[in-house]
Amino acid sequence: MQERIEALLKEERVFYPSEEFKRQAHIKSEEEYERLYRESLEDPEGFWGRVASELHWFEPPKKVLEGDLPHPKWFVGGRLNLSYNALDRHVQTWRRNKAALIWEGEPGEERVLTYYDLWREVQRFANVLKRLGVRKGDRVTIYLPMIPEAVIAMLATVRIGAVHSVVFGGFSASALAERIKDAEAKVLITADGGYRRGGIVPLKQNADEALQDAPSVQHVVVVRRTGEEVPMLPGRDHWWHELMEAASDRCEAEPMEAEEPLFILYTSGSTGKPKGVLHTTGGYGVYTYYTTKLIFDLKDEDVYWCTADVGWITGHSYIVYGPLMNGATVVMYEGAPNWPEPDRFWRIVDKYGVTILYTAPTAIRSFMKWGEQWPLKHRLDSLRLLGSVGEPINPEAWLWYYRVIGKGRCPIVDTWWQTETGGIMITTLPGVHPMKPGHAGKPFFGVKPEILDAEGKPVQNPEEGGHLVIERPWPSMLRTVWGDPDRFIKQYFSQHPGKYFTGDGAKRDADGYYMILGRVDDVLNVAGHRLGTMELESALVAHPAVAEAAVVGRPDPIKGEAIVAFVTLKEGFAPSDALKDELKAHVAKLIGPIARPDEVRFTDALPKTRSGKIMRRLLRQIAAGEQEIKGDTSTLEDQRVVEKLKEGA
Ligand code: WTA
Repeated sequence: MQERIEALLKEERVFYPSEEFKRQAHIKSEEEYERLYRESLEDPEGFWGRVASELHWFEPPKKVLEGDLPHPKWFVGGRLNLSYNALDRHVQTWRRNKAALIWEGEPGEERVLTYYDLWREVQRFANVLKRLGVRKGDRVTIYLPMIPEAVIAMLATVRIGAVHSVVFGGFSASALAERIKDAEAKVLITADGGYRRGGIVPLKQNADEALQDAPSVQHVVVVRRTGEEVPMLPGRDHWWHELMEAASDRCEAEPMEAEEPLFILYTSGSTGKPKGVLHTTGGYGVYTYYTTKLIFDLKDEDVYWCTADVGWITGHSYIVYGPLMNGATVVMYEGAPNWPEPDRFWRIVDKYGVTILYTAPTAIRSFMKWGEQWPLKHRLDSLRLLGSVGEPINPEAWLWYYRVIGKGRCPIVDTWWQTETGGIMITTLPGVHPMKPGHAGKPFFGVKPEILDAEGKPVQNPEEGGHLVIERPWPSMLRTVWGDPDRFIKQYFSQHPGKYFTGDGAKRDADGYYMILGRVDDVLNVAGHRLGTMELESALVAHPAVAEAAVVGRPDPIKGEAIVAFVTLKEGFAPSDALKDELKAHVAKLIGPIARPDEVRFTDALPKTRSGKIMRRLLRQIAAGEQEIKGDTSTLEDQRVVEKLKEGA
């Protein structure tokens, strides 16, 4: 952590939004921000009540906030539906024929759905779901590529009051099975395949494999995307287009209690299997609506593109719910950034006149590696605002993004948040705050962060860093871990009782800007994807050759972190390169390609304390190739282990 701080501190320049940007921004001055921020903490009910009134409610809330962390209730007594807010509300206005989704497939096809088109499609699919027996509160698992049907399926599910669980298309059959089982989903929506870097991801094949082990699913709806032959099980499997043909395009939105479930999204934690993070309707709706509007300074004229996958929280909040509730035109792209060539993103920006681009540091670092010549081939003059999310952005990447993509004209919002927070928590506001590369910035309205030491006291000097916690309830916080309320408390509210512990380290400077230092728990952030070390280790020990495994992150110039696995073998198995490859493939098979270890190292023993705990701190240093092992090693049970590990590199 210390090294990262040192590297970041070297960059001291501050960048200011232009007068032109400020003039047109929703929020224009620091005074305005300060006033609203103060109000949001002093009178959260007044503040959020006012924001909520910008949305449509079948029944307005009677009480804006009831209770406190860890179990606050927001917008009590209110009834709303987010599909109604994302669609019906706009269809009743001039936005009826405005483009809602501009979609581009990886092979190059284009589809535009207006708000009216999307509204009709969503209602038809809502009727399809009803016909398949889906009722309010039932779970629907969505395992699709980045195609409009993913958005349609999500909005149709919530339209009838059911709960979606979107599983990223890059997850394997067994990861999918685990998530279906945990949610006890009744219906699975998938596709014959999806395009990725010129190849086809065999989604239906994975789904079939997953369903052998996930008996709750009664029906599977299959979108025809690639046209590949796929087996269809009579009675269970149905083609999307056939069901849609027969469905009516009118289906009333179900009025939902504000605290009724909206969706489950699985994410990795420091222990055990992935957690089903549960978000509810009212708070999530209000917060994603409002953060999208202010942080992306969204206007009706904008063409907004978030490059995340809908399988992650960024896709949920800032491709689907936030932008559509704002009536925005949303660009959606199916494939890889470097297909067929490394300028695909820049082609898309110019082709559709994208004005707001929201992407991840890992992508930016790849673009840097591929070279400036690719973006320089394109005008990029439609862009007016850039965003970053998913991991700390190093100042070098920040500056490249600012200069080469934004041409020094576009403010950058470096947005810190998590699956659990539902929406963006810390960022600069684009027309307000000076930008400091490497610093996410200030808390958004209603967010009260603090930096605590290990004992739970606010750190004396916030510049030194500590645990990042959130001290007050905010509308879009997770409400529980699906099916495991104890884990919710244990994971988020036990380390610092009464406060939400983020799992991140952070420091704060004299201007009140937060710098995120990365995870302080056993969670890796690999190319912006969250992976638990325990999950990776369990996958490794499930292989017959593996006795013990310890997984750590190693700093990586492109991915942020790379996965390094230290493995001891069972009797009768000999280390070999072939076995290394086999173990990497094994983990990719069990979890998904994003979890494939970058390096496997065999060792006779793992460094442990006398009480048997693996000393990950040492492994991290060894993985990073450090010659001098720093810090206390006196608790190490066998001092020779470290020397041997270093030799084994
Ligand atoms: C990290 C993604 C630094 C952080 C929205 C967090 C960031 C984890 C930033 C959540 C940022 C996300 N700067 N770090 N701007 N944004 N992170 O749940 O470690 O996939 O805890 O949500 O990503 O990842 P998740």
